[in-house]
Formats: sequence, C-alpha cells, structure tokens
Amino acid sequence: MIRPVLLCGGSGTRLWPLSRKSYPKQFVKLMGEESLFQASAKRLAADGFAPPSIITGSDFRFVVVEQLAALEIAPADILIEPSARNTAAAICAGALVLEARTPGALMLIAPSDHVIPDAEQFRAAVAAAAPAAEAGQLVTFGIRPDRPETGYGWLELSEAPDAKFSALPQPLKSFVEKPDLATAQKLLSGGMHLWNAGIFLFSTSAILEAFARHAPDTLAQCKLAVEAAQHDLGFTRLASAPWDKLDDISIDYAVMERADNLTVVPYGGVWSDLGDWQAVWREQTPDSDGVVISGPATSIECKNALLQSTSEAQELVGIGLKDIIAVAMPDAVLVAHKDRAQEVKKAVAELKAKG
Ligand code: GDD
Ligand code: MG
Repeated sequence: MIRPVLLCGGSGTRLWPLSRKSYPKQFVKLMGEESLFQASAKRLAADGFAPPSIITGSDFRFVVVEQLAALEIAPADILIEPSARNTAAAICAGALVLEARTPGALMLIAPSDHVIPDAEQFRAAVAAAAPAAEAGQLVTFGIRPDRPETGYGWLELSEAPDAKFSALPQPLKSFVEKPDLATAQKLLSGGMHLWNAGIFLFSTSAILEAFARHAPDTLAQCKLAVEAAQHDLGFTRLASAPWDKLDDISIDYAVMERADNLTVVPYGGVWSDLGDWQAVWREQTPDSDGVVISGPATSIECKNALLQSTSEAQELVGIGLKDIIAVAMPDAVLVAHKDRAQEVKKAVAELKAKG
C-alpha cells in the first residue's frame, strides 16, 4: 500500500496575479473544472493507494477540506504548518507522522502544481518504483528534458534510458537542483540528464535516516513540532515554537543533492509543472501566430503572446505585441517579456516590501 502525501502549502508567487498569498495557484481552477490540487488527489485515489495525507498552511485548511469533499475523498490526515518552511520541513513532518502510525510505510510525495494527464501510466511508474523504495532507496521520477530549464532539478543517469523510455529503475549518479542557464545547457546537450519531476517515493524510515544524516536540525525541530502538535477538528496542527525556527529549504537542496541512495524511474508520459506563466502558455494551444487568448481578450497583430483576462468584466487588448505575457485581474495587471517569467517572483517580493 502506497501512502500519498500531497504538498500544497506553496505560495505559487510566479503565477501572480492569478495566484495570491490567500489563494495560491494549486487551488485555482487554472485549466478546466478542477484545481491542480484536486487533480493530484484524484490521480492517487485508486487501488493500491491509501487515503492521502495533506500538508498545507493554516490559511488553506478549509479550501483543502472543501476541494477534497467535492471529490468525495476522505483524507487520512491534514497536517497544518504554522508557517511555510518549504518542502524539507513539510516532508520531514509528514514522514514522522506516518512513521508513528505505520512504521516503514511507503510515502509518495506528490506536489500539487503538476499536470499529468495519464493517471494510469503515472500509477504504473509508481508501482515500478516500489521495490527500490522498499529496499531503502529514495526514488525520483525523471522526465525527458527538451529545454535548458533552470527552474527544475536535473538527474544524472548512470545509463541512457531504453528507446521506449520505459519506467525501469536505475541508480542515480547525482542530483543538481535549479542549475544556472550555462549548466542547464550543458546538461541538456550531454544527454545523460533528466528533469526531476518533483515526485518522490521512499519509505518513512529511509527518508528519516536521510534527514538524520543530511539535515539533522530539520529533523530535530520537526520532531518537537510533531510531538507538541494539537489535534482539533480533524486537523493536526504542528507546534509553532519549534516550527518557526526551521530553515526555509527545499527537500532538493536539503536531502536530494546530498544523498547517495538515489534511484530514478524514467517517466515517459506527459508531465508539466505549472510553475510560471511560460508553463501555462506552453500547456495551451496557440493560434498560427503563436498567440494564446484566455478569457475576454483580443489580439491585434500580436505574435507569440499570452493574453489572459480572468474577469468577464475586463477586456484585455494587445496590439502589435511580441513575446509578451499579459495577465489582467480586476485588481492587478502583469505585463512581462516571456523570457523573464521567472522574475515575477521578484516583483511579488517588491510589492510585499512596499506593503
Ligand atoms: N506544505 C507545503 N509547505 N508545501 C509546499 C511548501 C511548504 O512550505 N513549499 C512548496 N510546497 C509545495 C508546492 O505547493 C508544490 O506543490 C510543491 O511543494 C513543490 O514546490 P515548488 O515550490 O513548486 O517547487 P519547484 O517547482 O520550484 O521545484 C520542485 O519541483 C520541480 C518540478 O516541478 C523541485 O523538486 C525541482 O527539483 C523539480 O524539478
Ligand atoms: Mg513547482
């Protein structure tokens, strides 16, 4: 039995102004009728998978309950973080809670900002990864890269995948999180790296051992936060005094880059992280000029542009734009060059500083 652990406490700042601190992208119906969080939960509600554990921030606890209820999915537990301390802390706390309940359980870390249309193929890849995870490996899932993406982790293979890109586990040589562009270009052209899908399978014991070796402070603080957790209304609230002392660091930097018991399972199905506006753009079908229109928007001789208006009451018009992302919300508008989509994060930090 595999226990899904859904991470949904990120703030999704690179998708501002659609994704907000109070209602981040994973809960927004970005494409279609379901939010990305709901799609992740549904993908793992199947034979062989236990009910999911959810790890999120206090502000989102009722959205989580509501969105799961709409799918008739009853979670195993909902862990509430007093503040966002990134994925290392979230995963460590999740592992401690699961380990106490079902020692040695296999946990599948599932982000909630991905598009993975073929749920069956995905579950087959997870099943292919289970024996390695049971043997104590930290299993990653590898996506064939098609661009020098600096927003992802890169996985160094020991051998090239077979022609069919089958889900055959193999030892991972190294893990590089979010390289700079020159490095990403080198990794892409070398042909021996895959993208890290950000989905992990491991046993609670293997990941806790890895924390003990590579991030002992995170483990110690998380233990305190779990021991002093309060249980109310179906939520497990981690204790804030130890939690707030945790470093803000992702699992990729804290553990994966340092571990030597990594395995990769190639995943050949469609996968996309809707991390920034470029990604949202890429996922939609452009017209012959490369323009994507969403909501009440009009393009006049634009080329290669994303024009997205999220409010029926607001018409967005682009004239002669090239390589531009324009997103209009009732209270905020973003206009950015497509190559600088990652910098929306900086803009949000600046806005925050302005108060
Ligand atoms: N509960 C909780 N608490 N969840 C969090 C937190 C937190 O503090 N921070 C982030 N998350 C959730 C996000 O909501 C998302 O579902 C997931 O954890 C991953 O976080 P991101 O912030 O989206 O990470 P990333 O996309 O920059 O990088 C990761 O994913 C890439 C692929 O999508 C890394 O694992 C990369 O190596 C990987 O390539
Ligand atoms: Mg992401």
